[in-house]
Amino acid sequence: MSDEVLLSAQDLSVRFGGVLAVNKVSFDVRRGEVFTLIGPNGAGKTTVFNLISRIYNPTTGSITWHGGPQPIALTQLAPHSIAALGIARTFQNIELFEHATVLHNLLIGRHVHRQTGLWSEIFFTGATRRAEIAAREKAEQVIDLLDLQHHRDSMVAGLPYGVRKVVELARALCTEPKLLLLDEPSSGLNVEETADMAFWIQDIQHELGISVLMVEHDMSLVSRVSDRVLAMNQGEVLATGTPREVQSDAKVVEAYLGTVDDVSNLRRAA
Ligand SMILES: Nc1ncnc2c1ncn2[C@@H]1O[C@H](COP(=O)(O)OP(=O)(O)OP(=O)(O)O)[C@@H](O)[C@H]1O
Ligand SMILES: [Mg+2]
Repeated sequence: MSDEVLLSAQDLSVRFGGVLAVNKVSFDVRRGEVFTLIGPNGAGKTTVFNLISRIYNPTTGSITWHGGPQPIALTQLAPHSIAALGIARTFQNIELFEHATVLHNLLIGRHVHRQTGLWSEIFFTGATRRAEIAAREKAEQVIDLLDLQHHRDSMVAGLPYGVRKVVELARALCTEPKLLLLDEPSSGLNVEETADMAFWIQDIQHELGISVLMVEHDMSLVSRVSDRVLAMNQGEVLATGTPREVQSDAKVVEAYLGTVDDVSNLRRAA
C-alpha cells in the first residue's frame, strides 16, 4: 500500500428531507489499500457509496478521483461516466440479470470497455471482434480466479445466494476497475463462504492490484482484510485508523454498545 491517494472525499454531506444521512464526512482511499466503512444500521455507509456512484448529489462537499492523469471532480460527472473511470461496485442487495447465464452477466459487465461505434458493431469489424475477444478472455480469467467454472453456463436465477454474491463480484472485476466498491460482501454468506470471500478480497488487492472500498458488518472479516477502517454513526465520522485503533476508540465502543458482540469480535480478531 502506498500513501498515494486514489479517491478523496471532503466534507461530504447529503440531506434527505429532515435526515442528514451523511454529515461532513472526509476520507481518502489510498492506492492499493482495503479501506472499510463500518457503523450501525442507518449510519450512512451505503449513502457514501451512492454519492461516489453518482446516484445521489451531495448537498455539500466534493469527491475527487486521482486515478487518471488529472484529478477529476466526480460530482461533476454523469453516473455512467463513473464506471468508465475505473470504479466498479457491488450492491447490498445483489443486482444481476437473473435470466441470463453467469458468463453473459460477466460480458455485460465488460460493456464499459467497448470503444467501438455503431457501424463497426453492425458490420462486426476488426475492432468489434477484438473487443469481443478481449471481453471473453477477461471473463474467463475472472471465472478461473473466483472458481466459477462450474456455474459458467448456469442461469443466475437458479444459483444459490452465496454463488450469486460471487458472480456479482466477478461482474465488477470484469470491468477491470482501479477501485472496487463492495457493499457488505459477506452479508447472507455462511462461515465458510465468508472465509472464501476474505481470501478473494485479499487476492483482488494483492494479485490484481485493485484498491477496495468496502462496507462490512462482520468484524472478523473487517479486521482480517482491512488496512484502514472508518467508523461512522448517524452520518458522522467517529474514528479513522487501523482496525485495532478504531476498535479501541471510545466513541466507536459507545456507538456499538447495543451490539457489544460486534466490538468484541473486532477486538478478538485484531
Ligand atoms: N433515498 C433516500 N431517501 C431518504 N432517506 C434515505 C435515502 N437513502 C438513505 N436514507 C436514509 O439515510 C440514512 C443512512 O442510510 P444508509 O442506507 O446509508 O445506511 P447504512 O449505513 O448503509 O445502513 P445498513 O447497515 O443498514 O445498510 C438512513 O436514515 C436512511 O433511512
Ligand atoms: Mg447499507
